[in-house]
Amino acid sequence: MNLLTIIGVILPTLAIIGTQWGDEGKGKITDYLAEGADMVVRFQGGANAGHTIKIGEEVIALHLLPSGMVRPDVISVIGNGVVIDCEEMGKEIEGLKRSGRAVDGLRISDRANIVMPYHRLLDGAEERARGSKGVGTTGRGIGPCYSDKMARSGIRMGDLLDEEYLRERLSSILPLKERLTESLGQPLEIDQEELLEKLLDYGKIYKNHIVDTSPIIYDAIQKGKRVMFEGAQGTMLDIDYGTYPYVTSSNCTSAGICSGAGIPPSMIEEVVGVMKAYTTRVGAGPFVTELKDEVGERLLHQGMEFGTTTGRPRRCGWLDLVVVRHAVRLNGLTSLAVTKLDVLNDMDTIKVCVAYEIDGQRVENFPGSIAKLERARPIYEELKGWKAWSEDTVALCRKGYSALPEEMRNFITYVEQRTGVKVGIVSVGKGRDETIDLRETRWSK
Ligand code: GDP
Ligand code: IMO
Ligand code: MG
Repeated sequence: MNLLTIIGVILPTLAIIGTQWGDEGKGKITDYLAEGADMVVRFQGGANAGHTIKIGEEVIALHLLPSGMVRPDVISVIGNGVVIDCEEMGKEIEGLKRSGRAVDGLRISDRANIVMPYHRLLDGAEERARGSKGVGTTGRGIGPCYSDKMARSGIRMGDLLDEEYLRERLSSILPLKERLTESLGQPLEIDQEELLEKLLDYGKIYKNHIVDTSPIIYDAIQKGKRVMFEGAQGTMLDIDYGTYPYVTSSNCTSAGICSGAGIPPSMIEEVVGVMKAYTTRVGAGPFVTELKDEVGERLLHQGMEFGTTTGRPRRCGWLDLVVVRHAVRLNGLTSLAVTKLDVLNDMDTIKVCVAYEIDGQRVENFPGSIAKLERARPIYEELKGWKAWSEDTVALCRKGYSALPEEMRNFITYVEQRTGVKVGIVSVGKGRDETIDLRETRWSK
């Protein structure tokens, strides 16, 4: 137990977690809550993420870098649980520099594993080998990189600073990779010296950023600094509790913070679950409330539901509270941030799934079996929709919560009652000021 907990001081930390299949608006909510934060930490995932932030008319999409990078006073940390594509990271850093932002505050864990060129190749080859049962990955080499981490065949950021050790690691790992790629019909002849040079170059580029990040985060929390943890993907893509095998390869739930950032569970205070007012999913796998009709098309176009990383159209459907309740329990959510309510503006009625019917039985908890999920039928409740407001959303947000249409407030109360968690943030547009903050915590405005 740490000193602050012993003396009864609540720690100023806050985690942002996706409650669905990703793309809930974590980037927007992280950026919004990062005002006044001292540190933003990514703890899992890699460049498969796509987090969009809108500042005035400027739209920024970050894949690997924490969303705190757009705020000048925030220290951004990439924790050991993240898998790093050095080339992609370079592109993002250059993009931020071009927009006049400083990147000196970036800290990268020396323990973070590196996405190697053969990981991307294996990602594609494995997907092709799965044929019609493919996961629909982002093709960013995420699965093969995490597999290597677990198989103890990974290369880590700290290794880039030690030529002798790196050479030794490559010598033992590359022959295995060559055999593997050959067996998948994609023989890869890797020139070890060339790869070594490339990696050492990355080491030179990032050497001032590569550090042991766990003590930095720990000390910041101990000193009472405001530290945020930015989740990538979402609870339903979690390797253990998502729709396995149609998931990503990391723990996207709040549990991933401890192992992926190197801090103890007692240091996590608030956990904000970001929930889109409907549901979307990119890639393959079960999706009980999916709409393959005109309503689904409306959500796709009005919500501009196209992947931030791959540009793929997202599958769309009604809000699924079986999913959200799963996320409430697994993450210990202390509040919800409800996003994209404006997308439902001209729906006459809004359906919400409250349970599933599987083989004639009512099921309240999200099942682990994919076969069962494929047979699941949504049990819906219907709520009255609200009509688009005539004034602009920024003006509406300035007037406060009570100015929102009554039916929208009813929807929010309904979500609170059905999940047992308070809604702390209401989002009705992409911008920072299209947000209403109802929370009364140290993180409130
Ligand atoms: P993330 O992966 O969870 O960070 O979400 P993405 O950035 O991939 O996708 C969410 C998209 O919705 C982005 O384009 C955001 O700018 C946008 N967005 C976030 N909140 C709102 C909102 O309340 N209303 C609307 N219309 N768009 C939003
Ligand atoms: P953010 O952080 C939505 C999905 C992919 C695929 C599965 C596995 O923007 O919410 P992977 O490349 O990780 O091995 O793909 O996970 N996926 C996401 N879907 N948002 C994301 O991130 C995602 N990251 C991965 O589409 O179905
Ligand atoms: Mg996204």
